Amino acid sequence: MGAAMAKNTPVISMHKICKSFPMEMGGEQQVLFDNTFDIYPGEFVSIMGPSGSGKSTCMNIIGALDTATSGTYKLYGTDITTMSPDELAVVRNEHIGFVFQQFNLLPKRSVLDNVMLPLMYRGLPMTERIRRAREMLKLVGLENFETYLPTQLSGGMKQRVAIARALAGNPKLILADEPTGALDSKMGNEILQFFKKLNRDLGITIIMITHEFDIAMYSDRLIHIYDGHITYDGKIPKSESHIPKAYKK
Ligand SMILES: Nc1ncnc2c1ncn2[C@@H]1O[C@H](COP(=O)(O)OP(=O)(O)OP(=O)(O)O)[C@@H](O)[C@H]1O
Ligand SMILES: [Mg+2]
Repeated sequence: MGAAMAKNTPVISMHKICKSFPMEMGGEQQVLFDNTFDIYPGEFVSIMGPSGSGKSTCMNIIGALDTATSGTYKLYGTDITTMSPDELAVVRNEHIGFVFQQFNLLPKRSVLDNVMLPLMYRGLPMTERIRRAREMLKLVGLENFETYLPTQLSGGMKQRVAIARALAGNPKLILADEPTGALDSKMGNEILQFFKKLNRDLGITIIMITHEFDIAMYSDRLIHIYDGHITYDGKIPKSESHIPKAYKK
């Protein structure tokens, strides 16, 4: 994975991905139906769709946090469907930066410790981990906050710490599940401007789930999911009303 990758190999290649969950009462509920799409290096993609439509389920498969029931999924050209949980953990740590709606920071650890976290498994010397974490905090404009606890920061600052953490391991892919969902619109726009910069200046591929069309407009491509089916995949339309909301067979 990585070095031998041809320039036009998709970062993500999903083919007929289906996902079902067992139900408590027995039987199973199918959540994703034949999801097929490729995402190429340097793309900035939004995923939209109503609550419960399967966005996070799809993102969890993309992020190797969960596996599909059927279909094939290649990450950087490598089929990861048959990998063991340990191998998947390595793939996640080395290739993907995660950003979540609720930030998921360790509340009792300093900002610097939080950013250093993904570097723990890299076998880097401590001085190098600190250097790298400081560099990332500078990138998100929080170099003066490294000794703070997350509870002492605003929501927007917490999300910037989470982004610094996601970037610390130097991933070429960022997955963000409603990264602005817990922020007011001003802070949300700041985070999006930052994503835009990461995408444009560092060529980082970004896939972001959002409920807001205004947020999706920062990206270059929209995938809309409805009841587990992809109903739209293309350029950001002029207005939200252009997105087919229902799935037509
Ligand atoms: N681990 C699980 N076990 C069983 N069912 C699940 C599991 N995860 C998700 N589901 C079900 O799959 C469906 C899709 O859920 P998902 O979280 O992907 O929706 P979503 O589009 O992200 O919604 P939201 O916008 O509310 O976050 C829902 O019906 C949900 O109950
Ligand atoms: Mg979700």
